[in-house]
Amino acid sequence: MNTKSLVSISDIGREDILSLLDKARKFEENPNRRLLEGRVVATLFFEPSTRTRLSFETAVNRLGGRVIGFSDAATSSSSKGETLKDTIKMVSNYADLIVMRHYLEGAARYASEVTSVPVINAGDGANQHPTQTLLDLYSIYKTQGTLENLTITMVGDLKYGRTVHSLLMAMRYFNPTFRFVACDELQMPQEYKDFCTQNGIKYTEHKDFSPEVIKSSDIIYMTRVQRERFTDIMEYEKVKDLYTLNNAMLEGSRDNLRILHPLPRVNEINQDVDDNPKAYYFDQARNGLYARQAIICSLLNIPVE
Ligand code: CP
Repeated sequence: MNTKSLVSISDIGREDILSLLDKARKFEENPNRRLLEGRVVATLFFEPSTRTRLSFETAVNRLGGRVIGFSDAATSSSSKGETLKDTIKMVSNYADLIVMRHYLEGAARYASEVTSVPVINAGDGANQHPTQTLLDLYSIYKTQGTLENLTITMVGDLKYGRTVHSLLMAMRYFNPTFRFVACDELQMPQEYKDFCTQNGIKYTEHKDFSPEVIKSSDIIYMTRVQRERFTDIMEYEKVKDLYTLNNAMLEGSRDNLRILHPLPRVNEINQDVDDNPKAYYFDQARNGLYARQAIICSLLNIPVE
C-alpha cells in the first residue's frame, strides 16, 4: 500500500482495495499467524466503541502482537489538559502503530502529521471510518461475488454517518447506483453528492423507504441516527425513529439482497429481521477482524502469504 497511514478512504486506490480484500480472505482462512511478534499496537479511543476497538485488539492478539492504550479518554492525561499532539508524540515512543478514534473531524489526519508511526483512523467525528469501509467492501464482495454494478440503498442518518461517507467514496471504482433514503434533516451532505456527480456515480434521493426502493436494491445499508452529533436533543427525538426495517418489508426483495449495518443498532432494524437469511450485519462485524488484520499488516509492510 502506497501510504504510511490510513486516515481517509481516499488515501488508497482501487488496486489497494482489491489487495486488502484478498489479504482479508487469507486471514479469514487462517486468522492465527505470528506476524506481529515483537510489535506493539496502541489503541487510543477518545469516543466509545465495541466492534472497532475489540476487533483491532483481537486482530493484534491473533497475530502475536501486543496492545496498549485506553478505551476511555477520561483515564488518560488528556483529561488533565494534555494536547492531542503531545499524547500522540508520547505514544509514538511506545508503539509501532496507532489506532485512534476521536470525536473531532480531522483529528486522525493531524495525528498522522505529528508522528512517524503509522496512524489508522478508527473514526473521526462525522467525517470518515475507512476501516469500516474495508470490512463493508469485503462483506459486499463476499455476499454478491462482485463489487461492480450494484445498487446500494443507504438509509437513515446520511448527514452524520461517517460509514456511509467512506463507503460512498470507495465505491467510485465500481460503478454503483446509490439510493439515499433520509429525512430533510439528515440528507447526504452536498459535498458527497458533488463527489458522485464528479465521478459519474448515479444516485437518487428518497424520503420514503418504499417497496420500490427495497425491491431494486442489492444492498440495504441501514444506519443509526447519531445522537452524539446533535446539539439539540429535541431535534434528535424528532428524527430518531423515522426509518425502521422489519421482516415484512423484505417480501419480494431480490434473492441476492443483503442487509448491512455498521452497528450498534438502536431501532433501525427490527429484531424479526435477524433470522432472515438476508440479514448480514453480525457476519459483517466478524469480517472486521480479517479486514483489520489485512490493514495492519499492509501498513507495517508485513507480507501475507
Ligand atoms: N461500527 C462501529 O464503528 O462500531 P463501534 O462504534 O462499536 O466501534
